[in-house]
Amino acid sequence: MCGIVGYLGKNQALPILLESLKRLEYRGYDSAGIAVLQDGCIVVEKTEGKISTLEQRLSGKEVPGTVGLAHTRWATHGEPTTQNAHPHVDCKGSIAVIHNGIIENYRVLKKRLEESGHKFKTDTDTEIIAHLIEEFYDDSFEEAVQKAVAQLEGTYGLVILSKKDPNKLIGVRNGSPLVVGVADDEYLLASDVSAILKHTRQVVYLDDKEMVTVGPSGFSTMTTENVEIQKEIEEISWDLEMIEKGGYAHFMLKEIFEQPETIHNACRGRLIHESGYAKLGGLNMSERELREIKRIVIIACGTSWHAALIGEYMIEEYARLPVEVEYASEFRYRNPIIEPGTITLAISQSGETIDTLEAMREAKRKGSRVLGVCNVVGSTIARESDGGVYIHAGPEIGVASTKAFTSQVTALTLLAIMLGRMRVMGRSEGQEIIEALQKIPDQVQQILNHNEEIEKIAKAYCNDSNFLYLGRGAHFPVALEGALKLKEISYVHAEGYPAAEMKHGPIALIDKNMPVVVICPRDSAYSKIQGNIAEVKARKGRLIVIATEEDEEVAKVADHVITIPQTLDMLYPILTVIPLQLLAYHIAVLRGCNVDQPRNLAKSVTVE
Ligand code: G6P
Repeated sequence: MCGIVGYLGKNQALPILLESLKRLEYRGYDSAGIAVLQDGCIVVEKTEGKISTLEQRLSGKEVPGTVGLAHTRWATHGEPTTQNAHPHVDCKGSIAVIHNGIIENYRVLKKRLEESGHKFKTDTDTEIIAHLIEEFYDDSFEEAVQKAVAQLEGTYGLVILSKKDPNKLIGVRNGSPLVVGVADDEYLLASDVSAILKHTRQVVYLDDKEMVTVGPSGFSTMTTENVEIQKEIEEISWDLEMIEKGGYAHFMLKEIFEQPETIHNACRGRLIHESGYAKLGGLNMSERELREIKRIVIIACGTSWHAALIGEYMIEEYARLPVEVEYASEFRYRNPIIEPGTITLAISQSGETIDTLEAMREAKRKGSRVLGVCNVVGSTIARESDGGVYIHAGPEIGVASTKAFTSQVTALTLLAIMLGRMRVMGRSEGQEIIEALQKIPDQVQQILNHNEEIEKIAKAYCNDSNFLYLGRGAHFPVALEGALKLKEISYVHAEGYPAAEMKHGPIALIDKNMPVVVICPRDSAYSKIQGNIAEVKARKGRLIVIATEEDEEVAKVADHVITIPQTLDMLYPILTVIPLQLLAYHIAVLRGCNVDQPRNLAKSVTVE
């Protein structure tokens, strides 16, 4: 949700702000704006549409100044119009604010401010923040900000500029991420590190209810209640190349093609073939504590939730431990039961999804130990959990998650092996899974080599407007994920179903116009799903089947077959999802959709 960036330093702010903002565009892209302090005045330029539109509006204009801020929006309160785009200013245009999050009590505050004479120009919740700071601003900028945020209920990552204090930028965080980039006499405040990587790899992560002031003499951090705090400067391991397209047409395609490497990275140093064990050092749990686990609750959203469902099949199968998977947003509002021996696993690529974070906090409050499975190092979920597993997939920029999904499933496989070996799994079984897992990166590459073939299949289906995806067992979540990928980026209606459930409703949809994607590798459900394929065929549905190599049976009935190499039953989902990612990608491209920035979506959902 919303990308925010602030700059203060020795260079011209405008080009740095625009460049950094573009790196955050995946967070939201319905409107954008900047504010630069020029000769003691705050110059604001904003527009509906993407950052490129903002650039056009600024082209040829000189906005000299070395302090400024910029915003790319994902609208919550108020339509995505130019007027509602950030930055927002106070009555006199002397304070500019950019915001990521939602102010829940803004109506009450707005009414009060209007009664005391403040004039509002937008429908946003954010604008009240500029007016509140104006209201409290006597001598100290910091104090005014502290008094203002004390009135706010909700979530916010804020960057604030004031012409009364021209050598300062203030950043505040509560519930929405904010990171400070520390370079030579330069500071960047941003909602995530990709905006600042070009300038520095030294960062300070703010925690909730913390604020930072940056100025020519350095930066200082304090709580929003004005207690000074010392924060450590941390080093980011990502480099610039990782957040660029590297010759691919889209980030999504690049990320799909990175999977042989990212899956390998998720396993690196964690597989011990000799003992058939997997080692996950970051869990911060002793072997005794791990053996005492009685139940695992997994909370997640979106694609991470699909990975969690596969994890459920895997952990139950390999470790014989009961697992429950819940949408984080549902978990947190239903007074969940956490008994002794329950551990909660929060899965999140970004580590910032607000529902997952709040659900994790709820589980913690109820006494559960919480573990995170995250991609972004230093993210809030990673920092607030008691331990966890980093998936090491590198930055994922495409809004539709691909490489993070396969790395999450890989990390859950490692967890399943580890827990399994502590309980019910013998050494040779552990070794067999490890050997199969080690082959997965090459097998993924083999599937990627079919890209052109999959593109041809996409051409045959790109004008269809409904798709059904079917799978059994751990391929039911793969069916959900395949359908989600298509929906997200091509705006085509698609549903994922357990194949046997088809008979209880969806079968009514099947006729000669309905493409049905069936995930049918040679696993233990193979003969059952053959029956489902026959049922589709009998109703003239158009069959695209994901099958194991040399499956002649399937080839006889399917309209199109995409083959995958053979692996163990439980590892198939890492392979079967790859053609579905490519199919969705090509259909979206053929339909002329913006694959990396699908409409209405955002990469990191930091509002409820
Ligand atoms: C958004 C993204 C999805 C992602 C979901 C959960 O909806 O568009 O791709 O799966 O959030 O995100 P997380 O970062 O928690 O995995």
